[in-house]
Amino acid sequence: MLKSLFASAACALLLVSTSAHGAQPGSPIVIKFSHVVADDTPKGHGALLFKQLVEERLEGQVQVEVYPNSTLYGDANELEALANNQVQLLAPSLAKFEQYTKQLQVFDLPFLFDDLEAVNRFQKRSKGRQLLRSMEKHDIVGLAYWHNGMKQLSATRPLRVPADAAGLNFRIQPSGVLEAQFAQIGAKTQKLPFAEVFNALKSGTVQGAENPWSNIYSKQLHQVQPYITETNHGVLDYMLVSNAKFWYGIPHRTRVELEAIIDEVTYAVNREAEALNNADRARIQASGSTQLITLNPAEREAWRAAMRPVWQQFEDQIGKDVIKAAEAVNRKQRQ
Ligand code: LMR
Repeated sequence: MLKSLFASAACALLLVSTSAHGAQPGSPIVIKFSHVVADDTPKGHGALLFKQLVEERLEGQVQVEVYPNSTLYGDANELEALANNQVQLLAPSLAKFEQYTKQLQVFDLPFLFDDLEAVNRFQKRSKGRQLLRSMEKHDIVGLAYWHNGMKQLSATRPLRVPADAAGLNFRIQPSGVLEAQFAQIGAKTQKLPFAEVFNALKSGTVQGAENPWSNIYSKQLHQVQPYITETNHGVLDYMLVSNAKFWYGIPHRTRVELEAIIDEVTYAVNREAEALNNADRARIQASGSTQLITLNPAEREAWRAAMRPVWQQFEDQIGKDVIKAAEAVNRKQRQ
């Protein structure tokens, strides 16, 4: 009896002395950062820079483990792992949060943002900042937006006009907007985790895809896609997220330092993303394995006109105010 009383008292003591971030007093907080792309991409660089800066500045207090290329968790289970605190940082693309918030679908609307600069402006303004908090009720805290880049269309046949895509099956991320975007041009879609894209294209399960240059090059997708059309039709960006219970359980002073590091890393990732994508575009072109198709303004306008009705289909889910705020960041005058 006495023995079991002691045992439960010891157990209670252990529970109160183990804080919400799970580390025992005196041992470092471990942050596992899992992602699905290669190291040599904007997100891959960001994860490694975060690890480097944390270990330089918070040595002994915080330890960061980076798992790229879906080696720890992949698209199918990473958000569930975050909810269970099995992983503490993720940076899924903004297309992958649909089950938690419909508002982030704004980023998938085709031809909404003219370029990455416009995306940047939207993310910095108040609507964009508010969206970082749009998943709070699911205990997901948005810490920052990280850029990758504008998406290009690749396929087994040349795509110059929207009708060229009719009947092809495109791999998409798990997003209703992207499904609707391809339906607009008569194409089929298949939602597949990023880790399966190369094999699906190689085997012919799907015949096309949409990706920024850095994802195409780092996964060698151009080796299995003979044509890439430079459409810049949408953006692929990320939200750096953590589990709110874990994040707010980190002692205040440490958390403030981590947030300052995140700001620094975000600045670096977002500054270099476009250059990294341009360098990968040049590498793809130099490889000679794929033909790059560029569109003149009239041809690009035809793609925009074909896909644009998707905005209206999703207006109620996303919110007219969010779409309007996003559209307002484009500098070029549109008709
Ligand atoms: C994709 O699934 O195509 C992207 O979200 C992968 C990534 O993280 O860039």
